Amino acid sequence: MCGVVAVIGKQYASQFVVEGLKKLEYRGYDSAGIASLCGGILQTVKSEGKLTNLINNLSQISNANLYSDSKISIGHTRWATHGNISVENAHPLTSENRVAVVHNGIIENYENIKNNLISEGYVFKSQTDTEVLPHLFMKYIKLGNNFLQAGRLVLQEIKGAFAFVAMSLDFPNELFVSRNSSPIAIGLGDKCNFVGSDARSIDHLTQKIIYLEDGDYALVQSNDVEIFNKNEEKANRKIINIKAEIGLVTKGGYKHFMEKEIFEQPVVIPQTISPFMNGISEIKIDLNKFGFKNKNTLLIAAAGTSYYAAMVGKYWIEHIADLPVIIDLASEYRYRKPSIFGQAAMLVISQSGESLDTLMALRHGKELGLITNAIVNVEGSTIDREADFSLHTRAGSEIGVASTKSFTSQLVVLFIIALALGKKFKNFKLSQIQKYSNYIHTLPSAIARMLNMENEIKSVAHNIKNAKSIIFLGRGLLYPLALEGALKLKEISYIHAEGFAAGEMKHGPIALIEDQVPVIMFLVSDGNEDKAISNLQEAFSRGAQIILIADKECIKKAPFAHFKIEIPNFETDFKYFLSPILMAIPAQLLAYHVANERGTDVDQPRNLAKSVTVE
Ligand code: G6P
Repeated sequence: MCGVVAVIGKQYASQFVVEGLKKLEYRGYDSAGIASLCGGILQTVKSEGKLTNLINNLSQISNANLYSDSKISIGHTRWATHGNISVENAHPLTSENRVAVVHNGIIENYENIKNNLISEGYVFKSQTDTEVLPHLFMKYIKLGNNFLQAGRLVLQEIKGAFAFVAMSLDFPNELFVSRNSSPIAIGLGDKCNFVGSDARSIDHLTQKIIYLEDGDYALVQSNDVEIFNKNEEKANRKIINIKAEIGLVTKGGYKHFMEKEIFEQPVVIPQTISPFMNGISEIKIDLNKFGFKNKNTLLIAAAGTSYYAAMVGKYWIEHIADLPVIIDLASEYRYRKPSIFGQAAMLVISQSGESLDTLMALRHGKELGLITNAIVNVEGSTIDREADFSLHTRAGSEIGVASTKSFTSQLVVLFIIALALGKKFKNFKLSQIQKYSNYIHTLPSAIARMLNMENEIKSVAHNIKNAKSIIFLGRGLLYPLALEGALKLKEISYIHAEGFAAGEMKHGPIALIEDQVPVIMFLVSDGNEDKAISNLQEAFSRGAQIILIADKECIKKAPFAHFKIEIPNFETDFKYFLSPILMAIPAQLLAYHVANERGTDVDQPRNLAKSVTVE
C-alpha cells in the first residue's frame, strides 16, 4: 500500500528518501516517484513498476546535481486506487510545478473539489484523487497565505482517510504533514527532520520518532517541528526511541523473504511465548483487565490471514473455555449495527497494526462501549496505540506480503488466551490445562520437524504448478487452515484456489470437481476423520487428484489418495489441538514452492499490499 518518505535539512535528501522508499517496498506498490528542490526548481521524477526503474530514471536525468544538491525531498510508493498504474498517476502530484504532494489514503470528496478547481482554471494531469491537494495548496498560497495557513485551509476542505506531505517552492524550508486515520511518523534529527509512513522507513536516519495522532497536522522545518491537533491547538506528542532493526531486512541467504520467514518460525514462536508464561505452565495474562471479569461473549475482528487466525481462536476458546466467540471480518463489522448483547470486550488481530479495516472495526467497537484488545506484531503501530490493551506477537519484521510467521505467532497467542480463559472459568480440569500449557513449549521443535517435510511438499508443488484451479478441504480446527492454504496459494502463485469445509462439498462445491483437479486435504485423527475421508473419497470418485497431508492413522484409511504426505509422529492430543499451527507449515511451503516454480514475485505479489491502509 502507498508509502511516503520525506527529508528536510539534510544534504543528499533525495538519496535518503530513496533509501526510505526501499524500506517501504514490502508494503506492495506499482509505481514510485520523488520531488526535490534543487537549483531553485522543483524537480519531479516518477516511474511505473519497481524502485529500480525510478533509480535508473534518476541517474539518467540531465540535472546531475539532484542527488547532492537537494536538502528537501519527498518520495512515494503508490498502490493504485483512483486511476490506473501510470507515470501520470504516480506521486508526487504537482501544481504549476511549485507545489508537490505525496499521499497515502483516499480523499473521498475529491470529485466536487476537482470540479471547482477546474472551473477556477486549474489543469489536472492525472486521474487521481490526490491531485486536488497540490492544486488546493497552490490556490491558497496565491491568495497570500503562508504554508501553514494554506495547509489548514486544505484540511478544512477535504474528507477521507489520509496521510500526506506537501512541499512548495514558495516555502523551501518547510514541509506540511497531516494525518487522518492513515499512519505517519515524524523523525527528529540534528538540524534535519524526517517523515515516513512508518518508523522503519526512516530508522536509517533517526531513532527519535513522534507518531501523529488522528486529526493532527504539523509544520516540519529543519530545526523545528510544530504539531497541532484537530482543534488547531498546539499539541505535544511523545517522543519514542525506536531501535533500528539493522540486519533484519536482509534475506539471510534465502532466495525470498517469505522462505526465510517460514524457516524463522521455530525461533520466533518461543520469542512470542515467553512474555506470556511464568515458568513451564503458568500463564501471565490479566484477564480482568481484558474485560473478562465475567463470562461474556467475545467478539474477534480481523482481515485476511489474521481473520483465519480468529477462526481458529473461536474453535479453541469455545472448546477450551466454553466461552461464546463471534468472529467478524473487520471490513464488514465496521459498517453494520452489530448487537453487543452479552459482550464486554472485543479482540482485533493484525500483523501490521495498520490495516484500516481492522482499525475502523476497533474504533467502532470502542464507540459501542467494548473494551478493545489487540493481538499485533508491530509495536507502536496505530492499532497497538489505540487498543486499550495489546498482546504482542514477537515475530519480528515480516517483509513477504504473504503472512507466515505472524500467522503462527497469532495462533500461539490465541491458544494461550484460550487456556487462560479455560483456567479462569474452570471449564477444564487444572491438570488438563497444565498439560496443554506444557504443549506450548514443545511447539518450536514440532514446527522444526514439520519443516523437514519440505522435499515432499516440493514434489507436490511441482506436480500441481500448472493446475488452473485447486481446492483445499478441512474440517473442524483444520477448516480455517483450508481457507488459509487457499489464500496463501492464490496470493503468491495466482492460481485460482478455494478452501471449503469438507462437509460442505456435497452442498455445491463438488460441482467444480473435474478430471485431475487437485484437491488438498489437511487431516489429523480426531475421532471424526472417517467423515473427512468420505468427503475426500467423493472427490476421488469424480476424477480429482487427491493430495492428503495427514498423520499415519489417517493416511492408512485413505489408500486411494494420489499423494500421501505423512506428518511426523506426535502425541494424539497435542497433534489434534495444535493441528492448525502444525499444518500451517505445509500450507505455507506448498504455496511458496508452487509460486517459486512459476517464477512469480513471491515477496511482492501483484496487486497486493502488506499494509492495507485504505478501506
Ligand atoms: C493484506 C495482506 C494479507 C493480510 C491482511 C491483514 O490483505 O495481503 O496477507 O493477512 O492484509 O493484514 P494485517 O496486517 O491486519 O494482519
